[in-house]
Formats: sequence, C-alpha cells, structure tokens
Amino acid sequence: MKATITHIKADIGSLPGHTTVYGPVVEAVRKYVKEKGESLLSDFHISYVGDDIQITMVHNKGVDCPEIHELAWNAFKSGTDLARKVGLYGAGQDLLKDSFSGNIKGMGPGIAEMEITPRKSEPFIVYMMDKTEPGAFNYPIFKMFADPYNTPGLVIDSNMHDGFIFEIWDIVEAKRIFLSAPEHMYDILGMIGSKGRYVIKRVHTKPNHEKLPDENVAVITTDKLSFIAGEYVGKDDPAGIVRIQSGLPASGEAMEAFSHPYLVSGWMRGSFNGPLMPVAMKDAKMTRFDGPPRVVGLGFVLKDGKLAGPVDMFDDPAFDGARRTAVKVVDYLRRMGPFEPHRVPEEDMEYTTLPRVLEKYKGQFEAVPDIQKKKKEVKLSTKDVD
Ligand code: 13P
Ligand code: 13P
Ligand code: MG
Ligand code: MG
Repeated sequence: MKATITHIKADIGSLPGHTTVYGPVVEAVRKYVKEKGESLLSDFHISYVGDDIQITMVHNKGVDCPEIHELAWNAFKSGTDLARKVGLYGAGQDLLKDSFSGNIKGMGPGIAEMEITPRKSEPFIVYMMDKTEPGAFNYPIFKMFADPYNTPGLVIDSNMHDGFIFEIWDIVEAKRIFLSAPEHMYDILGMIGSKGRYVIKRVHTKPNHEKLPDENVAVITTDKLSFIAGEYVGKDDPAGIVRIQSGLPASGEAMEAFSHPYLVSGWMRGSFNGPLMPVAMKDAKMTRFDGPPRVVGLGFVLKDGKLAGPVDMFDDPAFDGARRTAVKVVDYLRRMGPFEPHRVPEEDMEYTTLPRVLEKYKGQFEAVPDIQKKKKEVKLSTKDVD
C-alpha cells in the first residue's frame, strides 16, 4: 500500500520584520489542518523555520491531489486572516493568487511531495531552510547521495553501491534531465554548481536497487516566487524530504551533509550570500542581518500512515563547530557591505528593486570610444605571456 508525504510551506506574516512566525498564527494553521483535514490525512505535523510555516502531511491520495493542496492553501488563508488582524509584517506574503485553482504549484507556497512504498520502518528527515533559495539543497543532497567522503555507505553498503538517479530541473527554461551517479557525477556537478538555475528536484533509486527499486527517495521544493510574481516579493525559502536508512543514506550521513556551513544565496532582501547555519528549533529565528540563512531538520518515522517524532536533529552540540564557523563567516562577509560576492551578482538582482534605483542613470551613460580596442589588447597580451 502506497503512502504520500506532502510538505507545503509559506510565509504568511512575521514579526517584527522577517524574523520569525507568530505563535497564535501557527496555532490557527494547525487548528485548520486538524479540523478540515480529518477525513483527508492520516497524520500531519506543523512546524516553522524563521518566518515560514511548514505543514507536513501524510495521506494516500497520491501527489498533485487537489483536495490536499487546497487544504494547505486554506489553512494558510485562515492563518493570514489572523496575521492581518494583529498586523504581522508581510501578512499573506507568499499567497500570490486570489483564489485556489486546483493545484498549489505556481501560487506562491513551496511544495515537495512524494508517493512512496513504505518500508517496515520508514524513517525520513524534513529539512526546512529560511533566507535562501531551492538551489541551496544542491550541495547537501549531492553529498548525501553521491559523495563517498560524506556517505561511506556508497562504498561499503552493497545496496547503495550502484548509486542514485538525480532529477535536475533547469528552472529558467522549465526543463528537466535525469542523470545517474556515479556515472555522470561530473556532469551533475557541472550543472548543479549553478545553483540559481539548475536545482535537484528529486533523487530516485535505480531499478536494480535491492530493497527499494525505482523509488523517489528525496524531493525538494523548487518554486521561485519572483518568477511567479515578476518581481522580488520575498524569498523562495525551500524545504526538502529525505528518506534514510536501509539502502539509503543513514540518518547521520544525511545530517553530515550540513556539517560545513556552505554559502547560499537569498539572505537580506534576497540579495546576499551567506553561510547556511544548521540550528535547533529553539534557534530558528533570523535576527542578525535577517539571518544568517538557517536550516532545521526534523526526523520522523512513518508506520501505517502515522508519524512518530519529530526529533530536532540539529539540537546537538556536535554541530556547534559548524555554527561557530558560520558566525565567523558572517563576521567576515558583513564587512563587505554592498559589495559582491557578499551581495549576489548583478544578473540575480534583476528581480529586486535595484534596477528601479538605477533607472534614472540609464540615459546618462556615454559610450567609451576605445573599449573594444582595449578588449583586443588584453587578448593579445595574454598570448604574449603564453
Ligand atoms: P541500515 O543499513 O540498517 O540502514 O544501517 C546502516 C547504519 O545506520 C549505520 O550507521
Ligand atoms: P523572507 O523571504 O524570509 O520573507 O525574507 C525576506 C527578506 O527580504 C529578508 O531580508
Ligand atoms: Mg518574510
Ligand atoms: Mg522566509
């Protein structure tokens, strides 16, 4: 019997700025899902990171089920009513459409869901990030499912030895490709290193996987708010579900992928790069320069449609080192102020308000007569050096 895990998240208002959620609004969302989801869901869990409320749902209706999507949409709507009443900042921020139209995709909230064949024990971790973008999952997901230095199971567990299939989406061209690791590892890296464009959407097992053939084992939200709204309206803070153990990365291998606070985009006004800091729920609020970007991990097991857990996975002093490094990197980067590469490159600023600020100078630029010539000179002198 199949089961579906659907994770839908949205920022529907925060306080005092984009710092964190407001308890009563989280409760309003929980109450709505509990009451209206009674006949639809076998279980659910509500959580948050930073200013994003996260709904994890379990049911047997498959992916893209309109009733499930609508339940989450309406739960966020009901939370938004309260957020407006108390004057939360950015109330309803991620609800970009007026009414629900069958599928929550393209309406603002982020969605990650997978239909699975549950194992005897079905452990999984939900990772939730704030102040970053979907491509922030590229690095850790690659490490979990393709890097033997992170995941020795790829080397020493015969069930993992053949590797995994990565489903990569080009979110600019709206196209996707399936590539296998380890065979196409370097090509995968060639793409996903460009994390603003190529994002890992899913990981699948190969057809010859002994315990779990042809299964979806990881899924990430890939919704880009700015592509929907046409301008910057808040970040596409992502979430992902990763199944673990018995022929998949062990819990600790999945967690280890976050032990280095790698740089991600999407901090402060969606316009800055910063380290991704792994934190416990108690630290899931964004105060310094609206960050730094953070990730929370909640561990569950699923049995007969019911969830046990969660375990607050980064609530562990073993991640203190990663957190300290992250703070050091923050201190270092912040001294750069508005300069790249702390600020994201110009092309990524096109959806922000910067073009509006610089608009007035558009007609004032004059041609520089010998700029072409200079380029040629550079080329020649390089040749000379050769
Ligand atoms: P399983 O293969 O049973 O998942 O065990 C591996 C493991 O957890 C070792 O850390
Ligand atoms: P959120 O996308 O988390 O709302 O953050 C917006 C922002 O610009 C913070 O500086
Ligand atoms: Mg916000
Ligand atoms: Mg957010």
